[in-house]
Amino acid sequence: MQNMEKRSFTSLLYNRISFAGGILAGIVLVAIILMLFVTWLGGGSSPYFGLVAFLVLPPFLILFILLIPLGVYLERRRWIRSGRRTEALFPVIDLNIYKHRLGLSAFITGVFTLVIVTAVGSYNAYHFTETTKFCGTLCHEVMHPEYAAYTRSPHARVRCVDCHVGSGANFYVKSKLSGLYQVYAAIANVYPKPIPVPIRNLRPAQETCEQCHWPDAFFGAKQRVVNHFLNDKNNTPWDINLLIRIGGGSPGTAQTTGIHWHMNIANMVEFIARDMTQQDIPWVKITNLKTGVTNVYNDIDNPLTPAEIDSLPKYRMDCMNCHNRPTHIFRSPNYSMNLALSTGRIDPKLPFIKKNGVAVLTGDYKSTEEALDKIAKNIWTLYEPGNFPDTSISNASIEQSIQTLKETYTANFFPEMGVRWDLYLDNIGHLNSKGCYRCHAGNHQTEDGKTITRECNACHTIIAQGKPGEMEIAVNPDGLRFKHPVDIDDAWTEMGCYECHTGTSP
Ligand code: HEC
Ligand code: HEC
Ligand code: HEC
Ligand code: HEC
Ligand code: HEC
Ligand code: HEC
Repeated sequence: MQNMEKRSFTSLLYNRISFAGGILAGIVLVAIILMLFVTWLGGGSSPYFGLVAFLVLPPFLILFILLIPLGVYLERRRWIRSGRRTEALFPVIDLNIYKHRLGLSAFITGVFTLVIVTAVGSYNAYHFTETTKFCGTLCHEVMHPEYAAYTRSPHARVRCVDCHVGSGANFYVKSKLSGLYQVYAAIANVYPKPIPVPIRNLRPAQETCEQCHWPDAFFGAKQRVVNHFLNDKNNTPWDINLLIRIGGGSPGTAQTTGIHWHMNIANMVEFIARDMTQQDIPWVKITNLKTGVTNVYNDIDNPLTPAEIDSLPKYRMDCMNCHNRPTHIFRSPNYSMNLALSTGRIDPKLPFIKKNGVAVLTGDYKSTEEALDKIAKNIWTLYEPGNFPDTSISNASIEQSIQTLKETYTANFFPEMGVRWDLYLDNIGHLNSKGCYRCHAGNHQTEDGKTITRECNACHTIIAQGKPGEMEIAVNPDGLRFKHPVDIDDAWTEMGCYECHTGTSP
């Protein structure tokens, strides 16, 4: 005899799984609402707060809600398997019955609340993952060097995503997908240190940089004064005053001049690099987009073979091939010392402080803590009373130098991540690394003998140079012939500066 007992839909809801799902979902929902409320009031400034509220809790909420129908399903199956019957699969609603009306209103209110919370939540989640706080501080150790450098850069108020993601849903999704892997890599500690560059999947500059710097918005020349100090006992100052021919482009006339000639308006520059970091560029091709005329340059000292030219990947030059460090700028010890001395944060009267400062910054340290400790100890030892009998040295100026050196170190050196200036070379200029000379060293030639210029005045004009007070000053628009601060027999005319200067003391 069959058991004819029928169960109503509502009674199926009374099972352990649905019950647990309902209670847990309720708790999570209340938690999310509270957190939204706190955020709305302006609290919750820790990035972990946002992480929990917008990214960790919502999946749990959905999971717990799904437990309710799952429980009903399992309960119904159990009931039918045991040979019994249930009412229809879906609830039968009769709005004339008070209990049904009440149940339906409760259900609609619930769904409605959920939809609103989801909408507000995902809007916040979207914004939260776009914040600098999220990108820069959440996986603190990994991003620490980039974030620290960023906060002191000309782009300190530009959000990470404006350069790394740009606008539009397409790149948002792409970046979040690759972000998932990065989260895994950070948690499992399998990411490379330092992070390898150039980043392959950075978005084309037209869609990021050019949102703020459009090609016709900068042209002309820019003056730059660099204060140098020599390695001698007096830390002899030496200034160089240059006019940099930035140039620019006007899409209207497709005219480009100066350095920004490369910028893809009338010309397309393509190149092949032998190494990952794109420091060795033997082959360059330019195409005039109006006339279609091309020029192909190959390195005459070490040319690429036709087979290599066919097989190696070609990259199209854009902003980031030169401006590869627009915001994560890790300064060399030589640059940092020159800056500190010129701004008086280190006393130029301390004998040999330029040389000593560079030396203590470049020591081989395993951690920031060790570095800071040794920097202080070494400087104290170097300036022990009696070391410089003919100079009066105050403890205050030694202390101040140590303080500045420590600040310089923490801003530019990150031993834990293996980050320092020589691993993230800046491609602007040619002093400490090849930079422009990757193509402009004078050895890139076309078959008919045309070379990419190495002419000093093609890129800048020196308008003054020398010791402050006795500077040589340009009297005509051609500027001055470069004068090297110490006598190196005009070696700079043949060699690249970077062959002697690497960011420490030559
Ligand atoms: C002005 C644009 C800009 C902004 C703003 C910016 N970045 Fe970058 N970032 C770059 C460029 C360009 C590179 C590529 C460097 C290369 O490929 O050589 C880069 C590289 C990186 C790298 C790879 C390692 C390295 O140092 O090259 C990390 C990590 C990074 N950025 C994180 C961040 C974080 C976190 C923020 C926000 C705190 C941020 N970036 C903001 C432009 C930017
Ligand atoms: C959201 C807007 C924005 C984006 C995107 C942006 N920048 Fe900038 N950039 C700025 C602002 C603002 C400044 C500071 C201008 C000033 O100091 O006068 C600046 C300054 C610069 C400077 C001059 C730095 C100096 O030393 O004075 C360079 C070079 C530069 N940006 C390159 C880039 C590159 C390359 C990218 C793309 C990777 C980029 N910017 C993306 C807004 C932006
Ligand atoms: C061939 C290398 C090269 C390329 C490509 C290049 N720049 Fe520059 N840019 C320079 C140099 C060199 C300077 C001047 C040095 C400096 O002060 O940074 C400069 C200066 C700038 C400045 C500062 C201008 C000022 O008046 O202070 C901005 C902004 C800038 N570039 C943005 C861009 C953007 C955006 C792109 C891509 C559309 C781009 N650059 C492509 C080499 C390049
Ligand atoms: C990938 C190779 C490459 C790199 C890197 C490069 N250039 Fe060039 N540059 C070229 C080529 C190719 C030409 C055009 C040569 C010709 O006239 O056919 C050129 C031309 C120029 C010109 C002359 C434009 C004119 O008015 O005729 C200037 C100025 C210039 N580059 C400056 C720079 C500076 C500054 C840097 C470094 C920040 C730099 N370049 C980096 C390939 C490069
Ligand atoms: C292809 C372009 C180009 C050529 C050719 C070139 N330079 Fe430069 N030079 C630059 C750029 C770009 C900078 C960096 C400007 C900046 O930092 O804003 C620079 C910087 C310098 C500086 C200042 C360095 C500092 O930090 O004090 C000196 C000095 C200098 N160049 C000398 C020379 C001499 C001498 C030659 C010829 C042998 C030469 N340059 C050829 C592009 C060029
Ligand atoms: C043959 C090696 C050699 C070459 C090539 C060379 N230098 Fe130097 N440079 C030196 C030496 C050695 C010093 C002295 C170090 C000191 O006393 O600080 C020096 C010092 C300097 C200084 C002052 C100290 C500092 O670093 O702030 C400047 C500026 C400088 N060189 C610029 C250049 C430029 C620009 C070029 C390329 C056009 C160049 N040098 C090429 C060897 C060289």
